[in-house]
Amino acid sequence: MSRRSLLRAGACLALCALSPPGRASPSAVREIRIVAAPTSAPLTGKGEVDVWAYGGQIPGSELRLRQGEPVRIVVENRLEQDTTVHWHGIRLPNAMDGVPGLTQPPIRPGESFVYEFTPPDAGTFWYHPHANSLEQLGRGLAGALIVDEAEPIPVDRDLLWVLADWRIDESGQIWPGFGNMMEAGMSGRVGNTVTLNGAVPADQPVRAGERIRLRLLNSSLARIMALRLEGHDPVIIARDGQPCDPHVIEGGRLLLGPAMRVDLLIDMQGEPGRRYQVTDEFYEGLGYELTGFAYSNELALRTTALDPLRLLPNPLSEPDLANALRHELTLEGGMMSLMMGGGMMHGMRGMSGMGQAVWSINGTSMTGDGHAGMKPLFALEREGSHLITIRNQTRWWHPMHLHGFSFRVLTRNGSSVPHNQWADTVLLAPEDAVEIAFVADNPGDWMLHCHVTDHQMAGLMTVLRV
Ligand code: C2O
Ligand code: CU
Ligand code: CU
Repeated sequence: MSRRSLLRAGACLALCALSPPGRASPSAVREIRIVAAPTSAPLTGKGEVDVWAYGGQIPGSELRLRQGEPVRIVVENRLEQDTTVHWHGIRLPNAMDGVPGLTQPPIRPGESFVYEFTPPDAGTFWYHPHANSLEQLGRGLAGALIVDEAEPIPVDRDLLWVLADWRIDESGQIWPGFGNMMEAGMSGRVGNTVTLNGAVPADQPVRAGERIRLRLLNSSLARIMALRLEGHDPVIIARDGQPCDPHVIEGGRLLLGPAMRVDLLIDMQGEPGRRYQVTDEFYEGLGYELTGFAYSNELALRTTALDPLRLLPNPLSEPDLANALRHELTLEGGMMSLMMGGGMMHGMRGMSGMGQAVWSINGTSMTGDGHAGMKPLFALEREGSHLITIRNQTRWWHPMHLHGFSFRVLTRNGSSVPHNQWADTVLLAPEDAVEIAFVADNPGDWMLHCHVTDHQMAGLMTVLRV
């Protein structure tokens, strides 16, 4: 036995002696520490911007977990206010979901909370606070959480673009006016500066012929994106972390609302030495160049076309549509509301006193971030298959998110959604109706809300009980 392995054996003996027999040794669980604290970051390329961040960086430390491997994440709060962390898209026990009051007490300044879970699904996820969400997310608290497949897929590079939108004022700092009710009733706090991995985007260097997995995450408070990758034919291989049938982007325009993720497989088909634009053209008349693929002058890495590739499915339960129980969620409110003239604002029954409501779901409005005593809108029979129709009866777009589950997106405005798509956040255009379905196999009280954070805070939120 070498000295090194001897030492290791000794360390194990010491640890094993501490853990009671019959339990896994403590070294079986990986432990990660994350600190949430104020710091500064060169977001704009014009000096430092005061931010709040995980691990002292924007975006927050990238977490890489392994599918099926337990993890313990200790979150330390060095902010001057309460916080929590929500592991967006991860199917985990309700007590680990990070909703203050509802699933855990808030983490007070100076205190820590230990999150423990085992990610069942491989894919692209993220984490962010669920306390004072508008300001905490708006000041930078967000990070990517990637769960690696047991067998990595054969690509030349695995890239991550965390896209974020900021409202920077004349002094070069984050404009503090969070929670403007006028904005909350419209598109939410859309900013004026978009960053890619925490900086004003530089070109993305690429080589002809290489195959890239590009993970996109829109961590913005409110900005919806419609990306176009000039000169390329990316294939969507996953949405919100869940593999789908590989398919090209419809109309070449990739919609990415707040909280949404898309994994693309791109065979870099451009010419050496050339540059190709990546643009965002969601808001009419406000299109801009996000970044560009800058090809090196090297010869193509390969010249023959590669075989198509698909990700292995995650262990999701397929809903039994023939016997699914049906539910309806109707979104109403906002400016220029269809019902505004009819006394809509008075008609909303506020369910909590934590802020003004300008939106409602089935006539009720939960505001804020989640708190104790939120009554579920309805209960879903455990282990049953459930089909929920979400109707957007407003003039605004809403990325609707359900905690604790991935759901199948079945139909949109009566047409079936192709390519076997699962998601945790579904984007609804004004007057859209979508049908989603899932098996209620995860007990607890689960948030369902719009991920335009101003909308969530102002009433576009509810709780479903399983
Ligand atoms: Cu990412 Cu309650 O949300
Ligand atoms: Cu979530
Ligand atoms: Cu919304």
